[in-house]
Amino acid sequence: MAEYDVIFIGGGPGGYVGAIRAAQLGLKTACVEGRGALGGTCLNVGCIPSKALLHASELVHEAEGNFAEMGIVAKSVSVDLAKMHAYKGGVINSNVTGIEFLFKKNKVDWLKGWGRIAGPGEVVVQGETEGAHKAKAIVIATGSEPASLPGVEVDEERVVTSTGALDLAKVPKKLVVIGAGVIGLELGSVWKRLGAEVTVVEYLDQITPGMDLEICKKFQQILKKQGLDFVMGAAVQSVEKLKTKLKVHYKLRKDDSAHEIDADVVLVATGRRPFTAGLGLEGAGVALDEKGRVKTDAHWRTNMDGVYAIGDVIAGPMLAHKAEDEGYAVAEVIAGKHGHVNYGVIPGVIYTSPEVATVGLTEEQLKEQGRKYKVGKFPFMANGRAKAHFATEGFAKVLADAETDRVLGVHVIGPMAGDLIHEYCVAMEFGASAEDVARTCHAHPTFSEAMREAALACGDGAIHA
Ligand code: NAI
Repeated sequence: MAEYDVIFIGGGPGGYVGAIRAAQLGLKTACVEGRGALGGTCLNVGCIPSKALLHASELVHEAEGNFAEMGIVAKSVSVDLAKMHAYKGGVINSNVTGIEFLFKKNKVDWLKGWGRIAGPGEVVVQGETEGAHKAKAIVIATGSEPASLPGVEVDEERVVTSTGALDLAKVPKKLVVIGAGVIGLELGSVWKRLGAEVTVVEYLDQITPGMDLEICKKFQQILKKQGLDFVMGAAVQSVEKLKTKLKVHYKLRKDDSAHEIDADVVLVATGRRPFTAGLGLEGAGVALDEKGRVKTDAHWRTNMDGVYAIGDVIAGPMLAHKAEDEGYAVAEVIAGKHGHVNYGVIPGVIYTSPEVATVGLTEEQLKEQGRKYKVGKFPFMANGRAKAHFATEGFAKVLADAETDRVLGVHVIGPMAGDLIHEYCVAMEFGASAEDVARTCHAHPTFSEAMREAALACGDGAIHA
């Protein structure tokens, strides 16, 4: 029986980052992962493959549209889907091997198999390698899985979750997406650009619930212009599988009227739930909350001595980078240091085109809290670089405290929004005011000037709008 200082169960962004950090801090560390590849959902069937398809399909769209405008003659643009999937596979593989290399470099043992907490300080692994291991600390980092929808049976061929939607062998003629959240809109955009007719059926009256409302509205307007259809306020009841097609049955919430819509492929993207099956939590006595998440305190400790939990399996946004930060911090806590995550400054990004990025509080949250705030906005239409890139849709919006000028929230829809948001993440970490950002020199011509102009707009006014 091997004895470790810490065993991470789960090799996704939370578990593998935590394991590397723990090893760097001198702890004898192992990471249990049964998938056959490190990197978790994010790397194998989530963030990374979707970004490859988003990038490739954006280029197709660009070639079909703006190339001609820029004087580039690409007479026939066509898609070899099998090759596109192979490119995506290559991106996954090179990242997976990268993590294996980092494990070796940092002397983290990869225990290949599925882990179960057998008792205090004991993890039993079953799979490619089998055995019981002792650990002073155990970290549950088992992530999440797609939530199921009553009346909808997923087969990952015609009725798919994000996993199947990343691997469709041919472009569907009609794709119906259930749920206008992050997954539905990112993957809906991919298949729309590759030629599918896409209809998104959403239960609520707005897309991407929880985001700044002004951004949501602009986002939906842009997606509609790109050809995505939306059925809003509609609760999906069932998906009927016929021989040649699927029928999605839904009821409109406003009048309870029943409707149906045909599809070749249906993507179920109605959220994810914590993945705890087979972990033996009940037997071990690890407490869950009412949503099936592992309960933790502010230092990621569960109710069981020596057992911690991080990432999608606990409360908070289900985001790879949130899990990474928790992995890093929990390793420090276990090593006797002061690991910390600032939950007020966790960016959220939707990798559509244009991208949507957000950090901090929304205008609606500020109103709810009765806070006095000012708003500075700047449209990408007035940004020189954006014009040269045909990327003028969208705007940056900065919310700052009315009295202190401290930045409270930033919401962007526009080119490279997912990268641009980070100057404000850093600014907010340092407790910056909008004026601090406005007085920081930004290179010209860059998209980031729009971010500075939005900060200027919180004060005396933007220059270019
Ligand atoms: P989500 O929670 O973002 O959106 C689900 C949507 O489905 C909601 O708008 C909800 O109102 C709707 N819905 C639920 N039941 C419905 C029904 N019966 N009929 C119609 N609509 C219904 O969930 P999603 O998109 O599945 O993503 C899951 C998780 O993965 C999220 O936490 C997300 O943050 C994360 N993720 C993050 C990414 C990123 O950061 N870029 C990319 C992909 C996933």
